[in-house]
Order: sequence, then structure tokens, then C-alpha cells
Amino acid sequence: MSTPHNEALQGAFAKTVLMPGDPLRARFIAETFLQDAELVNNVRGIQGYTGRYQGVSVSVMASGMGIPSIGIYSHELFHVYDVDNIIRVGSAGAISPKLKLRDVVMAQGACTDSNYAHQYGLPGTFAPIADFMLLETAVAVARRMGIEPPVGNLLSSDVFYNKAGNTLDWGAMGVLAIEMETAALYCNAAEAGRRALTICTVSDSLVTGEELPPAERQTSFTQMMEIALGVAVELAKK
Ligand code: HPA
Repeated sequence: MSTPHNEALQGAFAKTVLMPGDPLRARFIAETFLQDAELVNNVRGIQGYTGRYQGVSVSVMASGMGIPSIGIYSHELFHVYDVDNIIRVGSAGAISPKLKLRDVVMAQGACTDSNYAHQYGLPGTFAPIADFMLLETAVAVARRMGIEPPVGNLLSSDVFYNKAGNTLDWGAMGVLAIEMETAALYCNAAEAGRRALTICTVSDSLVTGEELPPAERQTSFTQMMEIALGVAVELAKK
């Protein structure tokens, strides 16, 4: 069975799927890091590939931008394709002055201004959190590479061009950085009883206004990918 958004056959995805936002980045990851990568989905250009990394079967598929988009693709990966683990590999804008450009930040939790969790009809506010085993593994893999990653809350916002201009207010509650997908991914994982983690490279800072030049994005992106792929390898051993 396929879906309106995913033409992959049953069994086409590995148990662990890496999700960048950008389809071209999905292709880059497949071509750069995976052996024998095969294109398994290309509906709406949302490229998905399955290949091997250090002998372990791994998939990579784009999420698109924003909560509705990752909401659809991650739901289908968990429920239709029986995927166990989704690791988002994205970029984020620093809200905390403690974060520097190129830092690889791990989302322990995700605040949001989205109404996504309203669908569950809960009598309160759901707190979307990372799977602890994935988070613990990712921190260990990063430390092995000599990286001490900042770990904490991200803000998953529905709005990139925020008229109110009050995004930095989240910093007063210790929120580290802003992106646009993690809260939905963590909600979907919780609902499906599966695992999810977001790892982001800090590409810009709302505090200082700095931005990574495109050429430099690649270096820190490579580090983040090596962490995420390292997690996939560790998971296969468990
Ligand atoms: N806002 C939202 N998402 C982002 C940003 C940002 O400033 N930077 C990287 N992803």
C-alpha cells in the first residue's frame, strides 16, 4: 500500500529514516553517505532513498518545511511503512545567546505556537519530547567525535516571518533555538508509539543577526549527518 504522498512499496524504508527538510539535501545525503542508495519515493519531489551505511540499512527522506508537511510524511512513515525511528536533521536559528553558529543542537523537547496537538483532545497541554534512547545515543556518538552538543528545548514555530517580532521572548524560558518541524514529529512519534529525535545545525542567530555563509553550512551539516548516521548504526546493534 502506498499513500497519496508516498509511492514507495511496503518494506522500501529502513527501520531508521533521516529527515532533512530539503529534498535536494536528501539526495545529497544519499549520494554522499549511503552505499547502493535507491530512490524509493519522488511524489511532489519529496525524494526518499534507502541504502546502507557501515553495512546498516538506512533511509533518508525529505520532510518539506513546517509542521503540516512533516506531520504528513512522518505519520505515514510510522503508520504505513512501519518505520521505528525518525531522526530529523535540520537547521535552526539561535534564540539563546549561548548558542554559536555551527553548533549542533539536540532537541530534548519542542515548544510550539502551533495547534497541532489539539487533535488529541487532551485536557491540557501535551509536551512533545525526544525519545530518550535516541537522545542518549546521539549525545554519546557526538562525544565520541569530540563534540559536546547543547541539549534542550527548541521552538517549533508555524511562522517564519513573525509579525509580532517576539520570538526572543522564548529565550526567557531557556528555549535554545527556533525551527519549524520538531513538535509535530515528536507528537506523531508519541501517538504511534515510535521514536523520534531532532538534531539541528545552528545556521543563523536571532540574537546577533549572523548567518552561516552557504559554503560553511556544509561542514557543520556533515558533522550533524555523521552523528545521525552513527545513531542509526548504534540502533542496529541494540
Ligand atoms: N526561523 C525558523 N526556522 C529556522 C530559522 C529561523 O530563524 N533558522 C533556521 N530554521
